[in-house]
Parts: sequence; C-alpha cells; structure tokens
Amino acid sequence: MKTQVLSSQTDLALAADLLTQGQLVAVPTETVYGLAADARNPAAVAGIFTAKGRPADHPLIVHLGDASDIRQWAQDIPDTAWQLAAAFWPGPLTMLLRKAADVSDVVTGGLSTIGLRVPAHPVMQQLLRDYQLAVAAPSANPYKKLSPTSVEHVLAGLDGKIAAVIDGGDCDVGLESTIVDLTGAEVQVLRAGPISADEIALVLGREVSSPREHNVAVPGNVKAHYQPSKPLSIFNTAELASRLSHAPADVICLYLSPVFQSMAKPSWQQMPEQKADYARTLYRSLFEADKRQGSEIWLEQPPQLPSWADVNDRLRRAQHKG
Ligand code: TXA
Ligand code: MG
Repeated sequence: MKTQVLSSQTDLALAADLLTQGQLVAVPTETVYGLAADARNPAAVAGIFTAKGRPADHPLIVHLGDASDIRQWAQDIPDTAWQLAAAFWPGPLTMLLRKAADVSDVVTGGLSTIGLRVPAHPVMQQLLRDYQLAVAAPSANPYKKLSPTSVEHVLAGLDGKIAAVIDGGDCDVGLESTIVDLTGAEVQVLRAGPISADEIALVLGREVSSPREHNVAVPGNVKAHYQPSKPLSIFNTAELASRLSHAPADVICLYLSPVFQSMAKPSWQQMPEQKADYARTLYRSLFEADKRQGSEIWLEQPPQLPSWADVNDRLRRAQHKG
C-alpha cells in the first residue's frame, strides 16, 4: 500500500472519504498524531491494531467534534463530565465514562467504559465537524515506540501500512492527553498529561487522586512504552556529570543544565527549560537522537515536580527495560 500525504488545506474531503470507506488515516491533534478509523466501523477499527501491532484488548480513545456528541457514546454521564468539558474541551483531556450499549467491543477492548476526547487541533476539528465523523485513534506509532509529533515521524513508523496521513504540521503540546476516570466514586487521573490533577480538582471543587505512576490495571497501561530504538538512560545532574567524564565517545546526550554546554558535541542537544517547551520537543528530540550516529542516549533528569508529572511519566516508560 502506498501511504498518501494529504494537505490539510485541500484534501480533507478525501481524508473523510477514506475514513468513511473504512481506511486508516493518520491525523494531527494538538497532543500527538493519531491513527484514525471510523469509530462506527468495527472492521476499520480492527485494522488499527494490525497496523500498530497493538494487542487487541487495549482500548482506544474516540475523538469527537463536539462535547454534546458524548451522549451518543456514553451513558449515565455525570455532571463532572459536563463541567470538565466546559473547562477543557476542545483540548488535551480524555474522559473515561460508562460506554453506551451499542459501542463495539473492538473500540473499548471489551471494557464497559470508553475514553472520549474533543481535540483542539483546527484541522482535526474541521475533519470531525464538517464530515460528522467520530474516529477511534491511538497515537500513530508502532506499539511501544515513540509517539509521533510530525508527518515525518508518522511515516517513519507506518509508511505503507496505512492509506494516508494528513499534514497538520508539528504538534503544539507534544505529549498525550491527560486521562481522567469519571466512572468511580473518586475522580482519578489515570495518565498524567498536559492538564494537571490540580487543574481538574479546581474546576470540580473536589479532590482528584493522581497516582505518581499510573499503575491502575488497565490494558494499554504498560511499563515499557514510548521507546526510542537506541538504549535510553536517565541520570540526575550530578550522576550525568560524573559519567560523562568516561562516557563512550558516541553517546548522544540530551541535557538541561547550562553547565554541560561547554563539553557538548554536535550530536548533543540542550533541552528547553520550560515544561511546556520541553514536552513539545521531547518525542521529537528522542526521534532525532535515534536517527543520529551514536550507540545510546543519555538524558539529564528533568525536575521532579508535580508540574512535570507527564514528562516524567513518559520518561520512566521510555527507559524501562524488559
Ligand atoms: O493525546 C492522546 O490521547 C492521543 C491522541 C491521538 O488523541 N491518543 C492516545 O491514544 O494517546 P493511545 O491509544 O496511544 O493511548 C490511550 C490510552 C491507552 O493507554 C489506553 O489503554 C487508555 O488510554 N484507555 C483508552 N480507553 C480506556 C478505557 N476505556 N479504560 C481505561 N483506559 C483506557
Ligand atoms: Mg500511545
């Protein structure tokens, strides 16, 4: 199969046609690129698992054009869902709700809950609204690999396996959405993301729990994930400084502290200091490091602060061995 690169200006009708015919199309969102299929077409959705090499019991997020569409996909919708929708949608928040009776098990991995999100990317908004689509879409990467934040990165993993990718430019946020579970007595953040548990708690006026590491037993929540091909090691500043003095010559170092500037090689990269900028560039930087000459990647550990929870969560999984 030849994967077409579609223009976000002129080719959205074609993209919508492909989706309606049951084909897979990678789509830009503000977080990362998604691998979309018509969420009402179980055969098309099944194709996502084949293209990604992802286990079939891992549930998918359904992307909608408008918050009011959640009524078609969920039941027993709590007030909290409407409050969060008003505050954060369109945007990088996925809500887990009780699924509507007619939603296919292929989408939810057989679970009784469903993940729903209204993405903010203008191209994705236009695609979903103008063509009245709902698309199931995981991140557009082969299973366990880095999530893509550009068309180049999507093609590196899925070229020849999907019908098309819409070029929506580089993703603004760069890390996957926050996942909040609204189906239990407690409101729980299951995946740290761009919207923090504190921000959610503020809107709801109640406590929101957020496990440091989201170890809730949901399929798809695996310890090894978001992985570059080269081995990745993460060291705090002092450890990195001492190891660099006898490092292999071809180590690629992604550092934060200015103290490393003086010894930096052309293959090294200084990461941004601000959390939002760091998040935007993290997957891209690991992707670029993978493409360069070098045996392994060493990364300076970012601040261990609540506001960096999503970055640190992804990095733990990116370096997990086994
Ligand atoms: O930002 C994002 O969320 C991106 C863009 C494309 O929207 N999507 C994304 O999808 O990250 P994916 O499939 O790579 O990650 C979704 C995570 C998986 O870990 C999955 O297990 C979990 O969400 N998930 C989805 N539905 C669920 C459900 N009903 N119950 C528990 N976990 C669920
Ligand atoms: Mg993913």
